[in-house]
Amino acid sequence: MTELVPVAKVPGVPVAKVLVTRPIPAPGAAPLAAAGFDVEQQSVDAPLLAAELAGRVAGKDALLCMLSDRIDGALLDAAGPALRIVANFAVGFDNIDVRAATERGVLITNTPDVLTDATADVAWTLLLATARRVIEGDALVRQGRWVGWTPTQLLGAPVAGRTLGVFGLGKIGGAVARRAAGFGMRVLYTNRSRDEQAERDLGATYVPFDRLLGESDFLSLHAPLNDASRHVIDASALAAMKPTAIIVNTARGALIDEVALVVALRNRTIAGAGLDVFEAEPTLSAGLAELDNVVLLPHLGSATTDARAAMAQLCCDNILAAFEGRRPATLLNPEVLDR
Ligand code: DGY
Repeated sequence: MTELVPVAKVPGVPVAKVLVTRPIPAPGAAPLAAAGFDVEQQSVDAPLLAAELAGRVAGKDALLCMLSDRIDGALLDAAGPALRIVANFAVGFDNIDVRAATERGVLITNTPDVLTDATADVAWTLLLATARRVIEGDALVRQGRWVGWTPTQLLGAPVAGRTLGVFGLGKIGGAVARRAAGFGMRVLYTNRSRDEQAERDLGATYVPFDRLLGESDFLSLHAPLNDASRHVIDASALAAMKPTAIIVNTARGALIDEVALVVALRNRTIAGAGLDVFEAEPTLSAGLAELDNVVLLPHLGSATTDARAAMAQLCCDNILAAFEGRRPATLLNPEVLDR
């Protein structure tokens, strides 16, 4: 393991400089400031433009960034040789070129575990809200168009006893599957590889992707976004789903070909979609927002007070570890330390 030399609070050694690219919930960057870091934090709650980020990261020793920040080779070069760690304030790290970071000896960390339940809850919120037409019902009442109970109004899809398909049975997918037990659901999953322990724990059944598509009443996506998973839900996947099926995405928007999804929802090839993430956030594909069989959330998966506080703390802990000669707890490229 490469020896890491503490920088903060060492007499005669310059104070380590960290850039935090957005305001983040408490404890924020306070643990870093308390440890003696020179903290520069973006005060405006908007993403930094790429050029601005490149300018502000120059000469920094650490970067605490958001999923909306693109961290590629050019950005790492703009940071310069002092940059030791990039702590991503998200579990998903498709915004980071990890290989480019590894080549430059920069540690990359993310925030798994602390947001698992928060994100699984949002997946279920979307599943139920889409199935039971919650947004349409709310609008009817709120807009004064509701004339009273009728036997035929806003009939939705039954959930209990139906089949839940989980694409990507990691921690969040597993938490979504665990919640399905309360609804007496059959759980199918597709993963890169079978997870027999999870099958025993969750009562889930491994199926190939085509069966997952064809048999799920509700299909919830939990795979990381990479070259293999981009547009895994394309026009042909949508065509293979039941016309009564509902798709839920709390992972990354680009798992779904959003243009194909709009067509499928418009033509009722599938019944509905609950989406927390989009291909080009915050922009939506044309026609998506006009559909009444979608529920749309502004990427709220981890947005609970507890999860966001734990994410901030974990990012700070990872940065502190990198400067105190310890291995960051959620290190994504251990080969930087092990080579
Ligand atoms: C993540 O952490 O990757 C989530 O998308 C944030 O909500």
